[in-house]
Amino acid sequence: MGDVRNKDTNGLKRTVAIVGLGYVGLPLALLFVQKGFHVKGIDLDRSKIEMLTNGLSYFTDIANKDIQAAIASQRLIPSDQYSLISAAEAIILCVPTPLTSHGTPDLSCLTEAAAEISYRLRKGQLIILESSTYPGTTREVLLPHLCKSGLKVGKDFFAAYSPERVDPGNKEYQMENIPKVVSGVTQVCLNRVEELYRHLFVNVHSVSSTDSAEMTKLLENSYRLINISFINELAMICDALGLNVWEIIEAANSKPFGFKAFYPGPGIGGHCIPVDPSYLVWKINQYGMNSDFIQISKAVNHKMPMYIIKQLKRHLSPLTLANAKVLVYGAAYKPDIADYRESASIELIHLLQLEGADAAYHDPYVPSIHAGGHKLESIPLTEETVKKMDCIIIATDHSSLPLPLLLEHASFIYDTRNVTYGATSKAKVLRLGGGEA
Ligand SMILES: NC(=O)c1ccc[n+]([C@@H]2O[C@H](COP(=O)([O-])OP(=O)(O)OC[C@H]3O[C@@H](n4cnc5c(N)ncnc54)[C@H](O)[C@@H]3O)[C@@H](O)[C@H]2O)c1
Repeated sequence: MGDVRNKDTNGLKRTVAIVGLGYVGLPLALLFVQKGFHVKGIDLDRSKIEMLTNGLSYFTDIANKDIQAAIASQRLIPSDQYSLISAAEAIILCVPTPLTSHGTPDLSCLTEAAAEISYRLRKGQLIILESSTYPGTTREVLLPHLCKSGLKVGKDFFAAYSPERVDPGNKEYQMENIPKVVSGVTQVCLNRVEELYRHLFVNVHSVSSTDSAEMTKLLENSYRLINISFINELAMICDALGLNVWEIIEAANSKPFGFKAFYPGPGIGGHCIPVDPSYLVWKINQYGMNSDFIQISKAVNHKMPMYIIKQLKRHLSPLTLANAKVLVYGAAYKPDIADYRESASIELIHLLQLEGADAAYHDPYVPSIHAGGHKLESIPLTEETVKKMDCIIIATDHSSLPLPLLLEHASFIYDTRNVTYGATSKAKVLRLGGGEA
């Protein structure tokens, strides 16, 4: 069988397959299309395939028109059929890597996808894993599946790992201008992934092994977990000392070296920072080791929603939470996206329900959620709604947050994101880490 890399005489005509068209896979597919590649997009979720085929985006930061252009040009072919991957020179895996109910790595999506690829694997194909995972996964989990094809890695096919660093909702850093770390199982594998990704990314950074690249991603996300948790702890300390943590962070940040600012919030969310460090812990447990930093950080992070409830109780008094109407603004774990996986807002709403509060939420991107076993729908944020509430908790700093409406008509705002900084308000405003009012 010939080399699956194919160029025509008119220039570039190359095909890749992306497996998993979620927050990572879909923007990556569109970036390939933008760079002139043909993309077979494989996802088992038929509703996603149907939406894409009809030119509809399911992410707030990806416009329908971009999907429509990719579909109309026939450069993006979405499908739930793995048979399409045979046409691709490279198959890129962007499937979820969540935790099991026991908090251990759940690689079932990865192994299912690897099994599908293995018996269709062709000579010359490059397989790149992008999902976040523990060091050793590419060699110990992905490769054995691919080798069942009877083909030899580094000779007949190529295997690589490249951690995805996309930051959904980030307008400054989008996929293309985020440096891309790459690694290969062999030197030839590395050469192949470098060559391919130089077409997409402004900066390709190679490391010596797939294990190192896997560990790089876990370092990045564990670093964020530890630092955000520490700053959350500092916010609680500042409350107790009557100091304003936001002012202190800004002052420390004026130092041009040796300090990187992290900001407090109601807790860490998403499918990366609360999850990936557990992959690292699972791996090192097998070496009889643990990470005290990760364990402590998780514990501090876990405390945040309950800390906010305690603060509310104190500041609402003599009104009790059981008699209070509380609106949580923002279900998403960060601004301007619809992703509410592991979001602290869900835990906050659940705790409010347990206290007997009449809890509601508003999020312009998240129409409904499940909290504490109940389905809740986002309620409209009108003057009337705001006036009815005993408290509004600002949990997410979406850029469309109607701050003047809240400042004018709310009776009490608990601001976990410092969006009310410098604002004059008729409402009583309490800021997380803003010192005791
Ligand atoms: N979301 C982020 O911001 C982000 C950033 C960096 C890295 N990551 C990592 O990238 C990986 C993917 O994350 P995501 O947020 O894109 O997940 P996601 O849930 O948004 O998307 C994953 C997609 O894979 C599909 N899928 C699952 N099993 C499949 C299979 N066997 N075959 C084909 N499709 C399958 C799902 O239907 C889903 O559409 C994870 O490891 C995550 O930790 C995510």
